[in-house]
Amino acid sequence: MPYPYQLKSIEEYNIAYQKSVEDPEGFWGAIAENFLWKKKWNSVLNWNFTEPKVEWYKGATLNITENCIDRHLDSMAHKPAIIWEPNNPGERTRIVTYSRLHKRVCQFAQVLKNNGVKKGDRVCIYMGMVPELSYAVLGCARIGAIHSVIFGGFSAQSIADRLEDAGAEFIVCCDGAYRGSKDIPLKSIIDDALIGNKTVKRVIVYTRTRTPVSMIKGRDVWWEDEMEYAETQVEKNGVVSFPAEEMDAEDPLFILYTSGSTGKPKGVVHSSAGYMVWTNYSFVNVFQYEQGDVHFCTADVGWITGHSYIVYGPLSAGATSLMFEGIPTYPDAGRFWDIIDKHKVNILYTAPTAIRSLMSYGLEPLKGKDLSSLKILGTVGEPINEEAWHWYDENIGRKKCPIVDTWWQTETGGILISNIAGITPARPGWATLPMPGVQPVLVDEKGIEVTEPDDRGFLKGNLCIKTPWPAILRTTYGDHERCRTNYFATYPGLYFTGDGALKDVNGFYRITGRVDDVLNVSGHRIGTAEVENAINMYADVVESAVVGYPHDIKGQGIYAYVILGNNKHQEETTRRNILETVTRIIGAIAKPDKIQFVLGLPKTRSGKIMRRILRKIAEGETTSLGDTSTLLDPLIVDEIKNGKL
Ligand code: WTA
Repeated sequence: MPYPYQLKSIEEYNIAYQKSVEDPEGFWGAIAENFLWKKKWNSVLNWNFTEPKVEWYKGATLNITENCIDRHLDSMAHKPAIIWEPNNPGERTRIVTYSRLHKRVCQFAQVLKNNGVKKGDRVCIYMGMVPELSYAVLGCARIGAIHSVIFGGFSAQSIADRLEDAGAEFIVCCDGAYRGSKDIPLKSIIDDALIGNKTVKRVIVYTRTRTPVSMIKGRDVWWEDEMEYAETQVEKNGVVSFPAEEMDAEDPLFILYTSGSTGKPKGVVHSSAGYMVWTNYSFVNVFQYEQGDVHFCTADVGWITGHSYIVYGPLSAGATSLMFEGIPTYPDAGRFWDIIDKHKVNILYTAPTAIRSLMSYGLEPLKGKDLSSLKILGTVGEPINEEAWHWYDENIGRKKCPIVDTWWQTETGGILISNIAGITPARPGWATLPMPGVQPVLVDEKGIEVTEPDDRGFLKGNLCIKTPWPAILRTTYGDHERCRTNYFATYPGLYFTGDGALKDVNGFYRITGRVDDVLNVSGHRIGTAEVENAINMYADVVESAVVGYPHDIKGQGIYAYVILGNNKHQEETTRRNILETVTRIIGAIAKPDKIQFVLGLPKTRSGKIMRRILRKIAEGETTSLGDTSTLLDPLIVDEIKNGKL
């Protein structure tokens, strides 16, 4: 059997879980034996959540790309590692075998070396969903450079902030990216991001859309030219090789920026060994991957889901990972179903927002599509409503495919709470049981463990995790104190997720959503403070407050209350200008769905905005707004209620 640690029954799950709690070092030490190490560890785990400090497999050395590629070459050289489906229908599919992947990654590692990239350097990647994005990520890992992928929906300003925070000296990008009928000019956005930047020395540009680009002498080079030159260097006498850098288990593998409750995104840092073990273990178990299966994760590699379940998890397991460049509704709402039919997809892993959006097109787009290859379905990124769950189960899974509801975060590196497909029970809307090695706890505002069930028989509290699992974040880049205060200081001794949850008598968890000022819009994390900062940049804005409200498709929509300084404004023009400003500062993904102009905001006497009230109004609640007596000016609430959009 290729995966001796694949759990095949609920009894095996129970035994594994218990062992992982009683003897985490024994448990994770044994699992790590299934990987390729250059040197074995001295200790499996050292940790404290006070600093915090977490070290897995200390003393070991490895290179994750040898685990994702080289070790499969003997038995699977000609097996597809990546199946790439282009955005434009009719364009050729690309199949990248493990042997081809090896060659391309070695070549690109050589390109990075030729361009002066060294171990530990930060390389920012801003590309569309093309196989070259995977080569770039793995090429960095091969030479020990730290990649930081930025989602193509972020603006030049957002990129500039991330480049500065990471001190990145290198960029890999595309000329442009196809997304549905749009063509996004990635290189020109990079050019804008680089105005005033003093650290970036080299930009490597891959040709995808043939959008005109300005190549700056001495700074910008073409991917294709560099690869051609590198080919002769890595291929000698018919043998391809580029030595995989020997990395310490705890060396950083990548930085991924994500939103928190403050205005500035933080660079979550993941390690090499622990991240590898966890993404592999969770991939193989949650999705019950079997050799030969085609795994289709619809996320973008710009988010953590793409890192863990398009690239590292599947490839380290020798799986076939389907990578789709486009969007679910282009050229029509049957695109996913076409892809499943065409490539005989076995596992589909997508977001509730995509399911709800496709649901709204009815069953017509499913006609004539053969989905019988599907074995397992998954969801991620936000709570799934029961209606969407049942639609997915009946129409896509034909009631034959287990659905895994996987809860996790950028910071957790991989899935922490989820049913295991077909092995542990599923329940609509519930992420259910923790993975082996994960010890969740629900606490109240004071950090005391909740033990009294509510009237429905559920424990209800803030979700924390008691002990480290191998892929827990190690720090936030350049600012360890920020990591401590964000995740480990709210409830001393615990990792705080920022989510609220319920637990039932079976020990099943249901994640109810964020309890901090983070929104989850179409499964994308956005901080309210970030959006407020962007709105406040607009010249006429005095102050703003942003909250989330329930949205049928996106899960949550963005509702902005805005005070303008000058009352002689054209509302519609100002609204459009504010949207343009947010697009410029963060990116189109953060554009408010609704902007209400108000004369004031409900504030306490100490000047704190009462978001609770704003949230209720945005949700359409008008009667029970709770206690408003502590407000500086209670009348302002009526004015806001009357103007609700
Ligand atoms: C939410 C995405 C309910 C949650 C992998 C979390 C979920 C945030 C689920 C992390 C789920 C993710 N059910 N909520 N199955 N999965 N979330 O960092 O609020 O982009 O804190 O990672 O998404 O979002 P992130």
